[in-house]
Amino acid sequence: MQLTSTELGLAARVHQLTKTYGAGAGEVRALDEVTVGIRRGEFTAIMGPSGSGKSTLMHIMAGLDAPTRGRAWIGDTEITGLSDLELTVLRRRRVGFVFQSFNLVPTLDAASNILLPFDLDGRRPSALEKARIDRLVETLGLTERLHHRPHELSGGQQQRVAIARALATAPDLVFADEPTGNLDSRSGREVLALLQAASRDHGQSIAMVTHDPVAASHADRVLFLGDGRVVADKPRQTAEELSAFMLATELGAAGVSA
Ligand SMILES: Nc1ncnc2c1ncn2[C@@H]1O[C@H](COP(=O)(O)OP(=O)(O)OP(=O)(O)O)[C@@H](O)[C@H]1O
Ligand SMILES: [Mg+2]
Repeated sequence: MQLTSTELGLAARVHQLTKTYGAGAGEVRALDEVTVGIRRGEFTAIMGPSGSGKSTLMHIMAGLDAPTRGRAWIGDTEITGLSDLELTVLRRRRVGFVFQSFNLVPTLDAASNILLPFDLDGRRPSALEKARIDRLVETLGLTERLHHRPHELSGGQQQRVAIARALATAPDLVFADEPTGNLDSRSGREVLALLQAASRDHGQSIAMVTHDPVAASHADRVLFLGDGRVVADKPRQTAEELSAFMLATELGAAGVSA
């Protein structure tokens, strides 16, 4: 009998996941038979060169994209095969996502973007949730920017709005694609501390893509992707250890500039 995700202590997992784009000679294999789980309550970093499949893996794990072959679960629910509506509801209740491209709604100001997950769910935040959102906004330094629309915000501010939106409902599972990519080192540290606290203090499961060994050193576990496969799976490492490993394996080679 196959063990469930809960029995395995996993918040999300994929089994023999393959994703290809295009066909024939132009076929790109973004993911090649990937089997991996995101452990419940852990902060997992995902590293690897540009084009190694990190975003593709996160999109499929979060139910935002469908694999070509293979299976995916969020908790004990198999998401491959769910209808769009079922997926939308599951995602809305359980998953927060920070996109590499932020995906803010251009016509809404920062405050409304942050509250969007509640609006989409047809409810208002409770007093407790309001307090949490206020703390997030303050920690992320967005208090003075709440009534600005995305085009009136810097890239780093937009990124912080996207992070506040992903964490606003305190979802079980948070996927963050390069959440510190546009931030100065101080705001980057604040964001990493938020993600760390989300897993350590609130038991949320966090998966974060990053090219930055310093950011990845905040994680409990670091997965390395190379050419659409998981090529290493390491417990917490220092930034120096991660850099040395990336250099030795050339896993950082194509990624450092991104
Ligand atoms: N919609 C698409 N159509 C065709 N090819 C795609 C598409 N999306 C991704 N790919 C290809 O799949 C591979 C993996 O892309 P992916 O975006 O997952 O990489 P990544 O590891 O997130 O890279 P980066 O660090 O640059 O964000 C790349 O070769 C990319 O060109
Ligand atoms: Mg990417």
